[in-house]
Amino acid sequence: MRRLIVANYKMNGDKKLFASIIKKINKLKVMDTKIVLCPPFVYLDEFKIKNKFVSLGCQDITIQDNSKSTGQISPKMLAEFQVKYVIVGHSERRKLGETDAQINEKVKICLNNDLLPIICVGEEKKSDKLDLVLCQVERALENTSKDNTPIIAYEPVWAIGTGKIPEPSRIDRMSEKIRAKIKDLGYQNCIVLYGGSVNKDNFSEIARSKIDGLLLGGVSLKIDEFIAIVKGIDNE
Ligand code: 13P
Repeated sequence: MRRLIVANYKMNGDKKLFASIIKKINKLKVMDTKIVLCPPFVYLDEFKIKNKFVSLGCQDITIQDNSKSTGQISPKMLAEFQVKYVIVGHSERRKLGETDAQINEKVKICLNNDLLPIICVGEEKKSDKLDLVLCQVERALENTSKDNTPIIAYEPVWAIGTGKIPEPSRIDRMSEKIRAKIKDLGYQNCIVLYGGSVNKDNFSEIARSKIDGLLLGGVSLKIDEFIAIVKGIDNE
């Protein structure tokens, strides 16, 4: 099965680090894994990707679709850099006040502009009801064409950057619930990723869960570990 591995560099990295990452990524050979790299906007131009297994993504998109949007980035600008994927609704943006309605707008803007949204969902605390996550999925996808294959990244907020990961059975349960919800909503297929404190020591246990891939944060910056994870997943 083809797996998807997404690197979210968040607000990290610099020209020198990204140059070394790109050098190694361009030489990387995989058989059955797709890789998406999501740098901060200002570094998109550094990502001259020459590897057919690797695509470029970014970490957000603007809602306004007009020229009166100081500080925003339009889909047309992203297209100039060959951006194909957009992380939407990351919990670190939800914390800044991004609402389900805005996330839904962003998903629609992506889809109307040939960009694939990677929709992040996840409960705040381990004790939270998991059905909250399904509401996030439903609201993000409201009024979008059923011909799309939604990409959902299940990222429990309590697992992000904490070194804590859910038991694989919890990831399985969530992934099954998300797939069932998406089917109920009328979509034929979906791609479910897991994100939150994945590293070289725990990725193979996580990858045995019923997920289609990973959304990696901190470990994306350590290129040798990142490549070890990609290769490990590719060989499974
Ligand atoms: P960490 O892998 O650093 O926990 O971050 C996960 C994440 O937020 C990816 O979007």
